[in-house]
Amino acid sequence: MAASFSTKIISRLRASQIIGSHLIYLPETTSTQDVARREAAQGAAEGTLVIADAQTSGRGRFGRHWISPTNANIHMTVILRPGLNHLPALNIIAPVAVARAVEGVTDLVTCIKWPNDILVGERKLGGILIESEIIGNQVAYCLMGIGINVNMTVANYPEIASIATSISDEAGYDLSRELLLLSLIKELDELYLNEYRGEVPFDEWRSRLINLGQKVTVRFQESSQEGVAEDVSYNGDLILRLPDGKRINVSAGDVTLQR
Ligand code: BTN
Repeated sequence: MAASFSTKIISRLRASQIIGSHLIYLPETTSTQDVARREAAQGAAEGTLVIADAQTSGRGRFGRHWISPTNANIHMTVILRPGLNHLPALNIIAPVAVARAVEGVTDLVTCIKWPNDILVGERKLGGILIESEIIGNQVAYCLMGIGINVNMTVANYPEIASIATSISDEAGYDLSRELLLLSLIKELDELYLNEYRGEVPFDEWRSRLINLGQKVTVRFQESSQEGVAEDVSYNGDLILRLPDGKRINVSAGDVTLQR
């Protein structure tokens, strides 16, 4: 059976300036988002990283189940306390950090499905769940949840077998989760600090998006809308050209996208 995270390697995370400067490591939990929410509400420091070897109730966007088998994948949540005007950039920073990290430690080529799914080819390798607690016009805390399929054999999970993939499925060998984690934390730390200096990796994010120019169906809670994914705006919205020629902006939190 694959090993749990080594605490020796994990302690190297403390070299980062913000992300991972504090660590909560759990062999198993319901969801790292739940743990992070409790910790954040009790005043956990910005950058606190909650990481688990397994989740029993891992969840994705729109309440979907997120498969989180023991010791196979990365399941983590970072507690952030950004200013309100910095929130939109997190949807850009997070997938770019994952894409760079995966490409930094493998030969795989990744792309992003708007807003923040990480794909290899057309299959999903990783996902991001950003949940924010906003009080008045202040962000009390923001939970950046990241799941990456590292050493999971996706064929063993029929419910996602046709749409998902993992690093081991793509590369043909198991990858050290610690190596990937260290690479991811380094990228996230750098991107988060740079965003505060006004540098958003917008062009990189945009150039990695696979949807642009494609016909898509945008699913809102109770309705759907077809159109062409024409562009994205600097704050991460999708600019959708409707069949009647009108252009609308849709924001990441409101929709899912299908081809
Ligand atoms: C998505 O693509 O729908 C987002 C998936 C996010 C999954 C991660 S795994 C770590 C964190 N804990 C959770 O329960 N979800 C996120």
